[in-house]
Amino acid sequence: MKLQDRVAIITGGASGIGRGIAHAMAKEGAKVVIVDINEEHGMATEKELNEISQGKFINANLRDRSDLKRIVDETVNAFGQINILVNNAHVSKQVMFAETTPEDLALSFETSFYPTFFLMQLCYPHLKETKGSVINFASGAGLSGMPTQAAYGSAKEAIRGLSRVAANEWGIDGINVNCISPIANSPGVQKWSELFPAEYQAMIDAIPLRRIGDTEHDIGRVAVFLASDDSSYMTGQTLMVDGGSIMLR
Ligand SMILES: NC(=O)c1ccc[n+]([C@@H]2O[C@H](COP(=O)([O-])OP(=O)(O)OC[C@H]3O[C@@H](n4cnc5c(N)ncnc54)[C@H](O)[C@@H]3O)[C@@H](O)[C@H]2O)c1
Repeated sequence: MKLQDRVAIITGGASGIGRGIAHAMAKEGAKVVIVDINEEHGMATEKELNEISQGKFINANLRDRSDLKRIVDETVNAFGQINILVNNAHVSKQVMFAETTPEDLALSFETSFYPTFFLMQLCYPHLKETKGSVINFASGAGLSGMPTQAAYGSAKEAIRGLSRVAANEWGIDGINVNCISPIANSPGVQKWSELFPAEYQAMIDAIPLRRIGDTEHDIGRVAVFLASDDSSYMTGQTLMVDGGSIMLR
């Protein structure tokens, strides 16, 4: 039980990678707060978590700044502390750079960079008390500059930038801040694989380990590691949990 009684907030925790991380952390004894805009999936995941450990669903829109304070307040009221903050949610549209609109940029940054930034600020006093961990989400699309990903990739790289600043500033408080760059079988990827089987197979063939990651067993377990004492001497890093797809040199 590497996370016994630690309290985690996971944004976008109702489905996909967030849900996989929630399951993996609950199995290690964490009390898990999942934040999501999808009530149906949020309630279902909360029920699953309560069968493993303790779970709480907070229905919130990460684009709404007042919801961010409510997330922190409700977590502390329910569980008394915050040890782990996982900034996982992100929504964006794939559009060529020249056609990217202010609305496309706003959608990407307001569902990822801004909530990551402000939740980190709001959680800071609590993380300082618990010598906690922040886990943020990067992407191979940002690292490689993938076409059609101007809004998404720039938000992802901005998140890596702020993660390194926080790692430097908060190291003295015993808080570690790391990023995961994943590839995993979230519902969005599954749906895409059904619509475009040839493209999906080409993507798998390009992954050195020749398979797609599992949200819980591949990504969730790395998130457990980054939230546990096993990684307490690591900060400011981006872990590539992508079957070797992008190798940082
Ligand atoms: N799946 C992959 O292969 C992959 C690859 C690279 C990076 N990533 C990154 O990993 C993270 C998780 O990816 P995923 O594929 O599981 O995502 P997903 O789209 O499957 O899940 C995102 C969750 O966020 C929730 N959400 C969306 N907008 C919200 C809002 N405004 N307020 C609150 N909740 C909201 C959704 O309801 C959903 O439950 C993201 O940061 C993504 O960019 C994923």
